Amino acid sequence: MSGTNPWLSGPQHPAAASVSERALVPVSDPRASTSVGRVPAVISARDLVKTYPSKGKPDVVAVDGLSFEVEAGESFGLLGPNGAGKSTTMKMVGAVSARTAGELSILGLDPDRHGPEIRSRLGVVPQQDTLDGELNVRENLYIYGRYFGLPAKVCREKAEELLAFAQLEDKATSKVEQLSGGMKRRLTIARGLINDPRILLLDEPTTGLDPQARHILWDRLFRLKEQGTTLVLTTHYMDEAEQLCDRLIVVDKGRIMAEGTPSSLIREHSSREVLEVRFGSDRNAEAAERIAGIGDRVELLPDRVLVYAGDGEGALEAVTARGLQPLTSLVRRSSLEDVFLRLTGRSLIE
Ligand SMILES: Nc1ncnc2c1ncn2[C@@H]1O[C@H](COP(=O)(O)OP(=O)(O)OP(=O)(O)O)[C@@H](O)[C@H]1O
Ligand SMILES: [Mg+2]
Repeated sequence: MSGTNPWLSGPQHPAAASVSERALVPVSDPRASTSVGRVPAVISARDLVKTYPSKGKPDVVAVDGLSFEVEAGESFGLLGPNGAGKSTTMKMVGAVSARTAGELSILGLDPDRHGPEIRSRLGVVPQQDTLDGELNVRENLYIYGRYFGLPAKVCREKAEELLAFAQLEDKATSKVEQLSGGMKRRLTIARGLINDPRILLLDEPTTGLDPQARHILWDRLFRLKEQGTTLVLTTHYMDEAEQLCDRLIVVDKGRIMAEGTPSSLIREHSSREVLEVRFGSDRNAEAAERIAGIGDRVELLPDRVLVYAGDGEGALEAVTARGLQPLTSLVRRSSLEDVFLRLTGRSLIE
């Protein structure tokens, strides 16, 4: 099979190559074969659907016809609010949940028929940590590698390498329950790398972490990306999507609302700057009416009024020139949050 499938060439146990070796010598990087034409996407979904039965009610349509492709080495994001269908999509891509309809190909394989082979080549960081609380940090890595059928020696070496990668060397013999949330997340990511996957699926890798822990994780993920690992991540943090994703889809209610690079999405769906003004919760609506016409667009939120404009300071001058005195004002660059608001009429963080 490896003769026809560019993704399945390489060593039987790719974990035998260390993280640093991979950085220097990409293992049969399929992108190198451009001379023989365009290499197929590592993940390809077409009209992907997932429904869940619901007792006495119509089925829940969690994923409603998603089509997207992820190329090797890319960092691809699914951005959307709670219930958008992100985890459901990740589970189908991770070959742990069968699709209801549509086409799905992972590394050139159909997850319905090649689940074990796909799973052995992916790294998975689920939304909920599934670390073994009975085992210590090092054992969690080792046992997971053994579960993949890797030789004991490889698992031992790989565990040490990943302890360093996750900056958890001094916690190697601690029980998982003694770790902080950020450390657990780093360990889960390290565990997902034990089989040296070509694709790492990360479902909300930094939810619930403090800013410092998030930045440490972002740094680890950047390094993986530099080494050629394909990252697929879900998030409802727009700054995370802007930082980590080369390209993303904005998902709402199981459907794609927009697709592109973070900057192209912002350019396409928002203005350069945004003026945020607050007048007090009982006065915002009236103020928004009086602001109408300033900038490209005015959006009323429960706690503030947003004025979309190329020049935010200029918009603020125009607001005060109309005799309005906001309690607070802030000019910022447009973000993916604004894109989401524009596309759905709702805020991303509810
Ligand atoms: N096992 C299940 N059985 C029934 N319904 C489910 C199941 N898993 C998810 N759903 C439903 O599918 C929809 C999408 O859920 P999903 O977990 O994929 O969303 P999400 O985008 O990951 O949200 P969050 O940001 O909260 O993690 C929701 O309406 C959810 O209630
Ligand atoms: Mg989820």
